[in-house]
Amino acid sequence: MAINAASSERGEPYKFCVVTYGCQQNEADSERLSGMLKQMGYEKTDAEENADLILVNTCAVREHAEKRALSVTGGYKHLKEKNPDLLIGVCGCMVSQEHRLDDMKHKYPYVDFVFGTSYLWRLPEIVYGRLNKKKRQFLLDTGDDGNIAEDIPVLRECRYRAWLSVMYGCNNFCTYCVVPHVRGRERSRYKEDILKEARELIADGVTDITLLGQNVNSYGHGLYDGYSFPELLSDINALDGDFTIRFMTSHPKDATKKLIDTMAECEKVAPQLHLPLQSGSDRILSRMNRHYTYESYKKLVEYAREKIPGLTLTTDIMVGFPGECEEDHEQTLRALGEIKYDMVYSFIYSRRKNTPAADYEDQVPEDIKGVRFRRMLEVQNEIGLEINKGYVGKTVRVLCDGESKNDEQMLTGRTDGGKNVCFKGEAEAGEYVKVKVTEARPFVLMGEMI
Ligand code: 5AD
Ligand code: SF4
Repeated sequence: MAINAASSERGEPYKFCVVTYGCQQNEADSERLSGMLKQMGYEKTDAEENADLILVNTCAVREHAEKRALSVTGGYKHLKEKNPDLLIGVCGCMVSQEHRLDDMKHKYPYVDFVFGTSYLWRLPEIVYGRLNKKKRQFLLDTGDDGNIAEDIPVLRECRYRAWLSVMYGCNNFCTYCVVPHVRGRERSRYKEDILKEARELIADGVTDITLLGQNVNSYGHGLYDGYSFPELLSDINALDGDFTIRFMTSHPKDATKKLIDTMAECEKVAPQLHLPLQSGSDRILSRMNRHYTYESYKKLVEYAREKIPGLTLTTDIMVGFPGECEEDHEQTLRALGEIKYDMVYSFIYSRRKNTPAADYEDQVPEDIKGVRFRRMLEVQNEIGLEINKGYVGKTVRVLCDGESKNDEQMLTGRTDGGKNVCFKGEAEAGEYVKVKVTEARPFVLMGEMI
């Protein structure tokens, strides 16, 4: 069955809807899944009830994300009952785990196909197979084949901001983390492929590019001698055009002075660094298998702040890792107070099957995790507010993202450093504007366009 022909016959286009959970890498993957479906002849819709094909791109990093994906998928049962021709697929990190793939097979009989993270490129073949009444398909894959599929079409969500994956997978095996188990071993894309994609994005009008990888600082390992992430940053910086480069995520153990120096030298690289600390306690960091100490981390931050004026610094913090006692938690709070992050992405430790920490016997009770989590938010809210107060009266350059979701009268956007701004004025999404900051809030700068 060809989708275009079927659409003409029906007098109405066949439509797809991709529902995405999880991190930026998943968002980037979903843009590729959408690109392939569009190329097959499907039209995109955001309403599941109007779709002929629903694809759920799942996350496995915390239990909560899995539960949401499972319950959303469960909710599609009634859509299938109404429309037996509807195709339902589930992909991504959650179903790259054998037990979840089995759940899909046995407990979700209305799911037509399931595939893991690095079988993304097989979507057209899987869909055509099912449309031609082939059996349900369940492709377990943990990314271990080490392949990278290039030249997959992309349907971007935004015309001026874009993701650019530079590498896939992770070799770090932090003891809490499921990512290396579901996204497989680290593999870098060839620099020529990355530079080609960057050039195409710039030619297409993209002005804000975020380079993606689980640990961008190990870019090039196993592929090049003497060409690593700083060299890649410099090469992208040297491309013609007016654009900004961001990147995430940097593992602190691999973030070097050279990286910071390169950021400082490259005028197109944003003054923004996301550097996940996870915990302020060396004892916990060691149990997490993180390979840095709080002191070494702090030194790197000091160096970065010295070299990159106006740096926006953000981090990930986890509370309630097994064995975390009050003193460890106090050390994390102290770290927040000393380092003073612009923004902290905070998480409650979630036990993940097949990770070492899941078997540690000294799990922290849920109520204590909750108390620590709330305490941490309180501490960080004050710090965030304090930092943001320093912006009041200043003028910042903002890339406008259009109307604010919370208040139609206001616009929203981000500064060069990636800080959230909510402001009065008239501008189109994608426009760069100057905003005078008039008020500080813990997570956002309020202001007026000038
Ligand atoms: N539980 C809670 N948070 C986790 N993260 C990774 N694994 C877990 C887990 N098992 C957090 C880390 C990481 C971020 C992307 O998600 O803080 O940096
Ligand atoms: Fe997970 Fe650690 Fe790899 Fe990040 S570096 S994806 S936290 S294993």
